[in-house]
Amino acid sequence: MRKFFLLLCAFAGALLFSGCQSEGYKTIDGVIVFDTPAREPGQKSVLGLKTAPMETVRVGFIGLGMRGPGAVERFTHLHGVDIKALCDLYPERVDSAQAILARRGFPAAEAYSGEEGWKQLCERDDIDLVYIVTPWQKHVPMAVYAMEQGKHVAVEVPAATSLDECWQLVNTAEKTQRHCMMLENCVYDFFELTTLNMAKQGLFGDVLHVEGSYIHDLEAFWDYYEGNWRLDFNQKHRGDVYATHGLGPACQVLDIHRGDKMNYLVAVDTKSVNGLKQAEEKMGATEFANADHTSTLIKTEKGRTILLEHNVYTPRPYSRMYQVTGTKGFANKYPIQGYAFDPEQLSESGVPDHENLSSHKFVPREMREALMQRYKHPIAMEIEAKAKEVGGHGGMDFIMDYRLIYCLQHGLPLDQDVYDAAEWSCIGELTAVSLEHNSAPVAVPDFTRGDWDKTDGYHHAMLVQ
Ligand SMILES: NC(=O)c1ccc[n+]([C@@H]2O[C@H](COP(=O)([O-])OP(=O)(O)OC[C@H]3O[C@@H](n4cnc5c(N)ncnc54)[C@H](O)[C@@H]3O)[C@@H](O)[C@H]2O)c1
Repeated sequence: MRKFFLLLCAFAGALLFSGCQSEGYKTIDGVIVFDTPAREPGQKSVLGLKTAPMETVRVGFIGLGMRGPGAVERFTHLHGVDIKALCDLYPERVDSAQAILARRGFPAAEAYSGEEGWKQLCERDDIDLVYIVTPWQKHVPMAVYAMEQGKHVAVEVPAATSLDECWQLVNTAEKTQRHCMMLENCVYDFFELTTLNMAKQGLFGDVLHVEGSYIHDLEAFWDYYEGNWRLDFNQKHRGDVYATHGLGPACQVLDIHRGDKMNYLVAVDTKSVNGLKQAEEKMGATEFANADHTSTLIKTEKGRTILLEHNVYTPRPYSRMYQVTGTKGFANKYPIQGYAFDPEQLSESGVPDHENLSSHKFVPREMREALMQRYKHPIAMEIEAKAKEVGGHGGMDFIMDYRLIYCLQHGLPLDQDVYDAAEWSCIGELTAVSLEHNSAPVAVPDFTRGDWDKTDGYHHAMLVQ
């Protein structure tokens, strides 16, 4: 009997290390690899998708809680948009958004409410773009339905909450040939735009490593999410459930699916102390899946690495970290903005000063400011003043909306495509799988299905247009 048991164990072990198959994934050389679904007939890539230019973009908004009304307001500052419809579960939230339109001198939009009102909004034939600002788990059903009704979609972060949902977005965009842009605003912040431009001009040499995070103590905010959806989601889900603000700028600097791709990740997490305590107080929870602090390391095909952090529970100052380490330079956003380049370490004697630990300094403030002026991103040059006036996280939200509408109006590919949305959103489930397998490496799917090296660098998307 004992012999049989040992044989069984050996067989199971061999399966594990040679490619065992379970729950839609196999293990190859110790890496958990999920199956890539085949394209269905008629489905084709949307890489570089261009759609017919439109003079006026007709928009419908779904979700008017904390975030949605700001988007409605921002759209009233854009030229060539027509706000056709507004929708929320609650009619009074639609009324409040109508008041924004009235205050800004716009006609009232068609109003929809209730659990299913959004479907009628998507079915209208006078809407080009559906802008989704609802809780995470409603993003994909709404985005998929809108695309199936022939609409382009802009959807808040994270666009999807699971791998399956990521593929639903990609497959639907490919079937319908509609744009599906995740509303990742942090890639449009001024420091990130300038640093992206510097990286593309080679200031940091070969970029080797990028760090990003979402560190934001949300304790004071939980009560404001409709129906407690956010704390409830985190209570049930382990892993980096909100990776896109940190990952988006990193992926743009590294040209992800535009010449490089994320190959695999590993995640580690702490125990949950503050998260559990907050969930005990607010919802009587006795368990909490999401760690107080989750760290993820990602390795790319071209030999670069990304470090991500997620922590929405402990009393730390807000940080998206954002560090770029290159062979010739370094950029850092939080807690202080700075750049450093090839350090001139030689002392007067010509011998490197081993003992001077602060010799690798950030450049002085005046030099940083001059550099930031010189390498200001063309998009910021175009719209910075207005963006700062309109606002939305200091202006980056307005730049995001401006670019979305500009590209649709001019029939250009969008700055962020559905593959970005899937790559940046899949981190939630992939980190959970890694954590559940003692930090095992998990492959990041190639959502382009082989086209990750067909586009020559990210700057094509934003600088050349
Ligand atoms: N990019 C950013 O900086 C940023 C900042 C904040 C929030 N967000 C994202 O915005 C989204 C919304 O977050 P929030 O803070 O506004 O949450 P919220 O709970 O305040 O608002 C969500 C709104 O969606 C509505 N809603 C729910 N179900 C609906 C349905 N079936 N039909 C119509 N409306 C429905 C709710 O009534 C609520 O008004 C989330 O995805 C969040 O991650 C992004």
